[in-house]
Amino acid sequence: KRLILVGPPGSGKGTQSPIIKDEYCLCHLATGDMLRAAVAAKTPLGIKAKEAMDNGQLVSDDLVVGIIDEALKKPSCQKGFILDGFPRTVVQAEKLDEMLAKRGAKVDKVLNFAIDDAILEERITGRWIHPSSGRSYHSKFAPPKVPGKDDVTGEPLIQRKDDTAAVLKSRLEAFHKQTEPVIDYYSKKNIVANLHAEKPPPEVTAEVQKVLS
Ligand code: AP5
Ligand code: ZN
Repeated sequence: KRLILVGPPGSGKGTQSPIIKDEYCLCHLATGDMLRAAVAAKTPLGIKAKEAMDNGQLVSDDLVVGIIDEALKKPSCQKGFILDGFPRTVVQAEKLDEMLAKRGAKVDKVLNFAIDDAILEERITGRWIHPSSGRSYHSKFAPPKVPGKDDVTGEPLIQRKDDTAAVLKSRLEAFHKQTEPVIDYYSKKNIVANLHAEKPPPEVTAEVQKVLS
């Protein structure tokens, strides 16, 4: 299946992705994770993307479309994929359709992580991440077994630089202005499934499974 996960910051895209990936054997492409890796490695791409990311704004369409175009060539992504955090503008959605059309493919389903803005600050400011695996925890909703340490490797957890209440405001603004139109774009194609993303993670997982079965 070719799936897109769309939703505001903290809506649970990254939390549900590994579960969907394990169950459906898809490739998982998260533009935010890829960009953060590029920033950490100080690659030319990372240097260009850093300022916008730190301020909670979107990086340019050209940069992210380039990353996705490259990543979709991977053998593991030929039969299906999960795009987490892409497309985030209508231009990106149109470019994706073009890229897929060239490969004789199309998007099958868009999972819309619908949730009220008011819940998101607590989720975002309590998030802790294991950088090398991308596993995420929450100090209240999904605490690690040992505080500050990854459950699997025992390595230290970090907080994302953009996970502050102030930067979240800009990220939400970008979501409402630039990304909500993407949901309309796919609604017109009748491929959007709305999830109740405010529910606890296992209940959201059950909704996802129902949509995909
Ligand atoms: P990105 O990394 O994509 O961030 P985002 O969209 O803001 O989403 P998040 O990762 O914050 O949220 P999530 O939905 O994955 O939440 P999670 O599951 O971790 O993008 C970062 C930046 O990169 C952008 O601002 C932009 O600058 C740039 N960028 C990326 N893609 C781009 C693009 N296509 N175009 C342009 N720029 C782009 O959950 C959050 C927390 O809540 C966790 O602690 C988790 O444990 C907890 N939690 C999850 N689900 C639940 C639940 N059901 N109940 C209780 N707690 C929960
Ligand atoms: Zn995420």
